[in-house]
Amino acid sequence: MNPSCLRLKKISFAHPSQPQLFTGLDFELSSGKVGLIGQNGSGKTTLLYLIMGLHQPVAGGVYLDERLIASRDDLRYLRRHVGFLFQDADDQLFSPTVIEDVAFGPLNLGDSPDVARQKSLDILNRLGLIGFEDRLTHNLSGGEKKLVALATILVMQPRFLLLDEPTNSLDSATRARLVAIIDNLDVPMLIISHDWDFLAQTTSQVYSLDHGHLHLSETKCLHTHPHAHAHGDHPHGHSGLAHD
Ligand SMILES: Nc1ncnc2c1ncn2[C@@H]1O[C@H](COP(=O)(O)OP(=O)(O)OP(=O)(O)O)[C@@H](O)[C@H]1O
Ligand SMILES: [Mg+2]
Repeated sequence: MNPSCLRLKKISFAHPSQPQLFTGLDFELSSGKVGLIGQNGSGKTTLLYLIMGLHQPVAGGVYLDERLIASRDDLRYLRRHVGFLFQDADDQLFSPTVIEDVAFGPLNLGDSPDVARQKSLDILNRLGLIGFEDRLTHNLSGGEKKLVALATILVMQPRFLLLDEPTNSLDSATRARLVAIIDNLDVPMLIISHDWDFLAQTTSQVYSLDHGHLHLSETKCLHTHPHAHAHGDHPHGHSGLAHD
């Protein structure tokens, strides 16, 4: 087993009163940027919740660096090293102001208020959120909230990133900035998205989740061209653009 690795081993899970979602599911993230697609309700978000200990599998386990995540200490260790961007930014943000939300993590880890503030301002600048520090979080637009939520994660310098639909509510310029930011991050990450072009621009492999099974799409089907081709067994299109 790769020592620096996030791993799901033989995970089985069903939501209460729901049919079985996963049976003996295996997954490993140790390097690179990996995409995850799948229909609405296929279980993508549930998969990330299982990794983060927000749902408990009925069988199997989550491992980080060969350590089974079982106790509260294990979970604290995992959450220290794995950054998780929620699908809905409102699930991530809880402080009155942007700077309080972003500085919360560093303060919690023992940084002084000055250091935590400086780290937070740096990351806000990097995300193009200059001047947002004193804004009221609940008044932000959907896209702004998404970026602030990302800031609360990146400020912690996680070793792994799990991003659940990061482009939701982003306009095309912000989306392009996010592509550049992800490109500059040398961290293994799993990105859930319905946006094939975004995955093509940010990841080198894409899994699809279908009836509880993960299938690796052919890597050669991914392109970084400004226009689209059919993507292996997941053809996609763009209105107004010819396919070749
Ligand atoms: N807390 C819950 N209790 C019961 N059922 C749930 C719960 N959370 C999710 N589900 C169900 O589990 C299935 C998987 O949901 P999940 O949110 O993981 O899908 P998803 O692939 O992320 O979908 P989307 O693309 O719409 O975000 C769905 O059928 C959903 O209705
Ligand atoms: Mg989801």
